[in-house]
Amino acid sequence: SFLGIDLGTSGLRALLVDSGGRPIGSTERHYPVSHPHSGWSEQEPGDWIAALEGAVAELRDRHPEFAALRGIGVAGHMHGATLLDADDRVIRPCILWNDTRSHAEAAALDATPGVRDLSGNIVFPGFTAPKLEWVRAHEPDHYARIARVLLPAAFLNLYLTGDHVTDMSDAAGTSWLDTGARDWSDALLAAGRMRRDQMPRLVEGSDAAGQLRADLARSWGLPHPVIVAGGAGDNAAAACGIGAMAEGQGFVSLGTSGVLVAARDGYHPAPETALHTFCHAVPGTWYQMGVMLSATDSLNWLSRITGARPADLTADLGDALQPPGTVRFLPYLSGERTPHNDAVIRGAFTGLGSGTTRDDMVRAVLEGVAFGLRDSNQALKATGARLDRMMAIGGGARSRYWLRAIATTLDVTLTLPADGEFGAALGAARLGMVAAGAGSLADVMTAPDVVEEIAPDATLRDRFDAGYEAFRAAYPAIRAVQ
Ligand code: XUL
Repeated sequence: SFLGIDLGTSGLRALLVDSGGRPIGSTERHYPVSHPHSGWSEQEPGDWIAALEGAVAELRDRHPEFAALRGIGVAGHMHGATLLDADDRVIRPCILWNDTRSHAEAAALDATPGVRDLSGNIVFPGFTAPKLEWVRAHEPDHYARIARVLLPAAFLNLYLTGDHVTDMSDAAGTSWLDTGARDWSDALLAAGRMRRDQMPRLVEGSDAAGQLRADLARSWGLPHPVIVAGGAGDNAAAACGIGAMAEGQGFVSLGTSGVLVAARDGYHPAPETALHTFCHAVPGTWYQMGVMLSATDSLNWLSRITGARPADLTADLGDALQPPGTVRFLPYLSGERTPHNDAVIRGAFTGLGSGTTRDDMVRAVLEGVAFGLRDSNQALKATGARLDRMMAIGGGARSRYWLRAIATTLDVTLTLPADGEFGAALGAARLGMVAAGAGSLADVMTAPDVVEEIAPDATLRDRFDAGYEAFRAAYPAIRAVQ
């Protein structure tokens, strides 16, 4: 069997698959995100280890197949800065991908000649390099102790193998990697005032990073060697999980963040579009994506302040898609990456009336996220990417209403995978399979069967187009008054 681990923002999911890559069982453990100040977002790496151990213990108990585990892959939320001292002790909480405190440092790095060219991307505030510049300026004692910087998935790789090792797809989100050459860049490291010896070793996601530590293997009841793959950033892993490996293949993910991913033939960075261009988790391949920072995070926020569960908020809308009304929501609770690269903007409701209901506000939130994804789709189209169909994954994909709104806004057909939705966890397990020699990339990274298609509603297209135009116009207007 093989184990895929998806270290997500809201929790860790562990998925056990058989030698054919079919799910045997899965479980989840949750942990908090702390927001000590507006725009800050942190997590305790120790919580990830506790979640991993808890999830493994449960899978071991429930599934005898665990005893025959041969390979593991880890996917993680990207860009997080996990700072370790010379004894591999965690120095401070991990600063996460949706933390924008380092926007001034990001802008300075982004303006440094050569940085966009080598990294292939805007230096967004959420990326790793500007976080280190922030720590240097604000926490010099912590900064002086940094022996190594690991991405979240690489921190789990360290726990599993005892070695500092990351894969290309995750490394591409640091602003220290030459994304075209798939190697740390001395010029980018110098711009970020970091050293090569502070970086983990680089491997391709589908190659072996190492073996499960002997003492961990013993405590998990595994007497034989277990291969740990390089793993991946969660979006590249999700692409592996749904077989999005080549031009024309892509997906929309409705997680804490909302992303639109297109696998590309070759490396064609387009930082001017505020798209991300990153290494894929397999050799010689890249992908592009638009990222919005608050997708299910927007609905979860509304859930917190209304006291109703997210699933109940969406269920109350019924199944039939309605045209956008006068209430509009800008989903910029943590600022936005694509298309605005704006750490300062915050969300807004507009068009409220005395008759506005909770349902109206829920619809506006779902539409606002759909419009944000359309912004990303426009950016992808501008680079020549064409996605006529996209698989929909992530927790938000459980709402048919939301999927209908997105299909209609983007004018694409969305598809749902047949065997349940395992996204990044399945992709991680697949990377474990390939790294352990259990199959070739072509055999393993296949597209799942489709169980359902959600087509755009042609009768509502004009109304959604008009809603999108109003959404576009709202950004500069709200920006001007914030
Ligand atoms: C991608 C990004 C997010 C995280 C969250 O650039 O920041 O999608 O990976 O999981």
